[in-house]
Amino acid sequence: MAAGQDRIAGKIALVTGGASGIGRAIARMFAEQGATVMVADIQETLALAVVAEIAEAGGNAEVLALDVTEEDQWAAAVDGVLERHGRLDVLVNNAGVGGGGDGTIEDVTLDGWRRIMGVNAEGVMLGCKHGVRAMKQTGGGSIVNMSSIAGIVGAPQLSAYCASKGAVRMLTKSVALHCARKGYGIRCNSVHPSYTDTPMVERMIQSRSDPERMRAALASASPFGRMGEPADIAGAVLYLASDDSAFVTGTELVVDGGVTAM
Ligand SMILES: NC(=O)c1ccc[n+]([C@@H]2O[C@H](COP(=O)([O-])OP(=O)(O)OC[C@H]3O[C@@H](n4cnc5c(N)ncnc54)[C@H](O)[C@@H]3O)[C@@H](O)[C@H]2O)c1
Repeated sequence: MAAGQDRIAGKIALVTGGASGIGRAIARMFAEQGATVMVADIQETLALAVVAEIAEAGGNAEVLALDVTEEDQWAAAVDGVLERHGRLDVLVNNAGVGGGGDGTIEDVTLDGWRRIMGVNAEGVMLGCKHGVRAMKQTGGGSIVNMSSIAGIVGAPQLSAYCASKGAVRMLTKSVALHCARKGYGIRCNSVHPSYTDTPMVERMIQSRSDPERMRAALASASPFGRMGEPADIAGAVLYLASDDSAFVTGTELVVDGGVTAM
């Protein structure tokens, strides 16, 4: 393996939403850096394609069929990883949804709220619960929860999404403090991207009457004049997954090209 490509060598990692966008970039970067990666998603065909890309590049990855909203699936997924690999070192709770049913507080539907909170907030809670259960058996690990700048600053038209990402931000701190006090050796941190060029954002752009205008507006929100790339976010997650961040827990790592600095 080339120098600088072993930042998480030998670690066993599970990435939810690993079949697309930011999760795919995290899975690929983790494998490049020496981890064995479980690509967990409800989109099994896309997850298989990510595993094939990783294998082609000489890395180790496996598909894990997992709907993060189902606790019995979490229990089985984590138990399966422990059986096959003996431990879980890194868990990235990245799976998330936006869109349908969200809106301002005057427009949001109860179904939309429950769908978004179900994946983005409850799914992360279940991941943390079963991740801690596994990691405490083998001396610790790192949990990284995908929030958003929408978990720090409000967006009027995204009431459910903002609420779900705020929940992830504060759940992360609660998990971090609990694990530190118990002496589990488990760190838990959140990552807060701004608009990042993924299929989720592309769907949002294409739903607008003038997609190119929307794309330009998202790019100009950052003083860099561009959206984030999935690899920009994956690099931050890699830091939190690696032992370079051994004294970092309960933090919120903003990766937003300066959007919230303005
Ligand atoms: N793209 C952005 O601009 C942006 C900004 C801030 C935060 N985020 C967050 O980053 C994460 C990844 O977003 P993305 O842009 O890569 O989106 P994406 O739509 O490209 O990928 C999300 C993945 O999550 C999976 N998923 C959805 N529901 C699931 C479930 N119930 N169980 C398992 N997997 C499920 C999807 O199948 C998909 O593969 C999300 O949590 C999102 O909220 C994205």
